[in-house]
Amino acid sequence: MNVDLRPTDPDSLISDVLVPADRLVARVAELGAELSRDYAGTDLLLVGVLKGAVFFMADLVRQMTVSCEIDFMAVSSYGNSTDSSGVVRILKDLDASIEGRNVLIVEDIVDSGLTLSYLMRNLEARGPASLEVCALLTKPARRVADISCRYVGFEIPNRFAIGYGLDFGERYRSLPYVAALDESKLPAELD
Ligand code: IMP
Ligand code: MG
Repeated sequence: MNVDLRPTDPDSLISDVLVPADRLVARVAELGAELSRDYAGTDLLLVGVLKGAVFFMADLVRQMTVSCEIDFMAVSSYGNSTDSSGVVRILKDLDASIEGRNVLIVEDIVDSGLTLSYLMRNLEARGPASLEVCALLTKPARRVADISCRYVGFEIPNRFAIGYGLDFGERYRSLPYVAALDESKLPAELD
C-alpha cells in the first residue's frame, strides 16, 4: 500500500512524506462516515475543485453510505506557482443549479484560503440550502482569509505539498501519499 516512488523521481523533488498512504485511507474512511451521518436523508451534491480534489473526492464518495451527486468546478487563481492572489477566474462552472441543495465543496488543500473564500461567496449567492467545505489538507500557518472549513483531513506544516492529487507544475498528482516538495532543489523564486 505504501508504494514509495521517491527513488524513481528523476529530479529528486519528493522530500519527506507528510501523510503516508495508510493514514490517508483511514482518515478518508472516517470523513466518509462522518459525512454519511451528517447528511443522512438529505439531497447532497459534492462539488470537487479541479484538478487537485479528484483523487480525494473519488475515494471519499466510495466511503459514503448516503447517495450523492457529484459536480466539478475549475478555477484559476492569478499568482505565481506557489502563491495564490485571491483573484479567481472560473474556467469551468457547475453543470446544474445548486439552488435549494445541500452543497459540499471538496478541496485538496486550503492554503491562504483566498480561493475558497471566493468560491464560497460565489456559490452562496446561488442560494443553496447549505454550503460547507471538506478539505483534505490545511496549512493554518498560511491562512489569510477567514473561512470556516467544517471537515478537514489533516493539518500540515508550512511546506509545499505534492501527491494524492496535489501537483507541482502538473506533476506528482499520482503519488499515493502526500509528500513535501524539496524546495531547496528549485531555482530561486522570481516574485
Ligand atoms: P489558496 O487560495 O492559497 O488557499 O490556495 C488554493 C489552491 O492553491 C489550492 O486549492 C491548491 O490547488 C493550490 N495549493 C496551495 N497550496 C498548495 C500546496 O502546498 N501544494 C499544491 N497545491 C497547493
Ligand atoms: Mg485546489
